Amino acid sequence: MSNFMAIGNQDRYKSAVNHYLSPKRKDSVKSEWEELFSCTVIGQAIQKLEQTYSPKSLRIMDFGCGIGGGLVLVQNALDYVGLHGKDIYYFGLDNSLEMVKVAEKKWEDTPNVNFQVTDFRFNIPDQPTEIYLSCGVPYSHLTKEETRHTLENIFRVIKKNQTQSLVVIDVLGQYSIEWVSQWNHSRWPYRMSFLAEGQEQESMMMTCYYSPELKQMIHEAAEQENCKISDLEFFDRSIMVGRHTSTREYNPVIPPYREVINSLYKSEDITDFQELLFRCELPLAPSPVKEFFEKFSQMWNQLVLEAAEFCGEHLNIQDNISLPEQAAELKQELSRLQESNFDHGNFRANFVEPTLAKYLCRLESSAQPGLGVGHTLIAILSVNGKD
Ligand SMILES: C[S@@+](CC[C@H](N)C(=O)[O-])C[C@H]1O[C@@H](n2cnc3c(N)ncnc32)[C@H](O)[C@@H]1O
Repeated sequence: MSNFMAIGNQDRYKSAVNHYLSPKRKDSVKSEWEELFSCTVIGQAIQKLEQTYSPKSLRIMDFGCGIGGGLVLVQNALDYVGLHGKDIYYFGLDNSLEMVKVAEKKWEDTPNVNFQVTDFRFNIPDQPTEIYLSCGVPYSHLTKEETRHTLENIFRVIKKNQTQSLVVIDVLGQYSIEWVSQWNHSRWPYRMSFLAEGQEQESMMMTCYYSPELKQMIHEAAEQENCKISDLEFFDRSIMVGRHTSTREYNPVIPPYREVINSLYKSEDITDFQELLFRCELPLAPSPVKEFFEKFSQMWNQLVLEAAEFCGEHLNIQDNISLPEQAAELKQELSRLQESNFDHGNFRANFVEPTLAKYLCRLESSAQPGLGVGHTLIAILSVNGKD
């Protein structure tokens, strides 16, 4: 049961609960790109943990759990890597009373699932835990100092319990194309103006990260608490498809990429390939970010060009960029599909476009550099608290 402590905090997520419950939230990008990506990286990290010492069960503490989306993520991640039948003990923490009330109702029939209303900046339960999870950028609500302090608290608990644990830190990327107007700021007023049920949202101060600084913060906090980090990886999620590519609130000149990509999945809808091209003016950024976008934009456009040419359209862009292996065979796959489908119907809408979406997604997930160039930057670390 939840512990309804007085937390003296305005419930900023009260009006967002319906968004998290709404089926409209789950568009094609969410299920085919975002959930699959998170599931893959979390699944692979759990698999590595298994190989190191195979815990009997998985005790998960989900920071900023909302209505318990992290539980679904871990269940899917376990399925994805074939670790069925693991016992899960899930403990969700959130400072929104409303979110926790809805979460408790939603999961009331599932054993070993508990929630607590708590502000994780000040209070971290100290029971042994295998996965300190977060998803949906809860750490971005915190200032950098608060995140550093929270990490120290987590590492202290890991040390006290002498566990080998995974820590997943999910934050907003500093250099997303969605907010080029904010690239010079690391904490700025962010509005969730994309809520599925159209509720009005006030802006909240959010912190965005470039991975080298997050890496340094993680190492310093671990050192402070005498914990060893045996593995630390960063991942960029949603480089082209963050929800603010549709609102264009912080970059009004980009095409609404998320909507355009969703339209690739809609049978019978014809999508304008021109709208898909990467054509963003990017401001000054550290050179790894600049170099990434230069290369990535060419590869992205190459795939769009190949699909357009297959449909007899010419796009006036540079040709012949080499693609990563996972995204290299679009033309061949389209030819195979054409040969094996005699009754083409609307071949472009029903075959070319969803296949292009699949390859763009593969490109995004295989080329992501883990720098902070997407909507979300995910850090996954394995921490050894044993002496
Ligand atoms: C965008 S939601 C993500 C919810 C959920 N993890 C998901 O992915 O569906 C962020 C959540 O973090 C919670 N949160 C923000 N700051 C927090 C804090 N200091 N302590 C506890 N929860 C916090 C909010 O109340 C909100 O439910």
